[in-house]
Amino acid sequence: VDQADARYLVSLIRSIPDFPKPGILFRDFMPVLADPRGLRIMINGLEAALPVPVDSFDLVAGLEARGFLFGPALASRLGKGFIAVRKAGKLPPETVGEEYSLEYGTQRIEIERSAIRPGQRVLVVDDLIATGGTAKAAADLIVACGGKVSGFSFVMELNGLNGVAALGDHPTSSLLTMP
Ligand code: PRP
Ligand code: ADE
Repeated sequence: VDQADARYLVSLIRSIPDFPKPGILFRDFMPVLADPRGLRIMINGLEAALPVPVDSFDLVAGLEARGFLFGPALASRLGKGFIAVRKAGKLPPETVGEEYSLEYGTQRIEIERSAIRPGQRVLVVDDLIATGGTAKAAADLIVACGGKVSGFSFVMELNGLNGVAALGDHPTSSLLTMP
C-alpha cells in the first residue's frame, strides 16, 4: 500500500489500553472491515504484498477468529481454497492440535487432518502478529498434516515482540507495522 493508504488504514485501527488484560495495548482492526475504502485497501494490499508468488501456494489458511474475516475473500481473489485453523474443541475429528502462548495468554488451536492433502502448500493469514505464538502453532499443524508452509501474510505487525523471528525463515509480509 502507498503511504496515503497506509495512513488511512492506521487511522481506522482502534487502540484500546489494558484490554483484554492490564498492560496490553489492544489493536482492533474491526473498523477497517466496516469501512468500504479501508476494506478495499486492505484486500488489495494483501494481494499486492504477497510474501511469495501467487502460483507458489495452493491454499489460504485463516486463524480463528480474525483471520476468518478476510481470509476467504483473499483466497477467492487469488483463486485458492480456504481452510480454517480453529480454537480447541470446535472441529470434528480427526484433528491435530497444539498449545501455544500469545501476547496475553495461552490457547490451543486445531486443524482438521483431512483439510490438507499431502504436499499442499499453504499461505497463513491473520489480522495481526504479536509474539508469533499463534502463527507458529498454525504452521506446526500444517506440517503435522503433511502440508508445507509457503509464507505468512498479516495486516499488522506489532513492533518489539520479535514475532516474525519466531516464524523461522518463512517469507512474511505485513501491511502495517505498529508500536
Ligand atoms: C489475536 C490475533 C492473532 C493472535 C496474535 O487473536 O488475531 O491471532 O492474537 O498474537 P501472537 O502473535 O502473540 O500469537 P486472539 O487469540 O486474541 O483470538 P481472536 O481472533 O479469536 O480474538
Ligand atoms: N493479539 C496479540 N496481541 C494483540 C494486540 N496487542 N492487539 C490485538 N490483538 C492481539
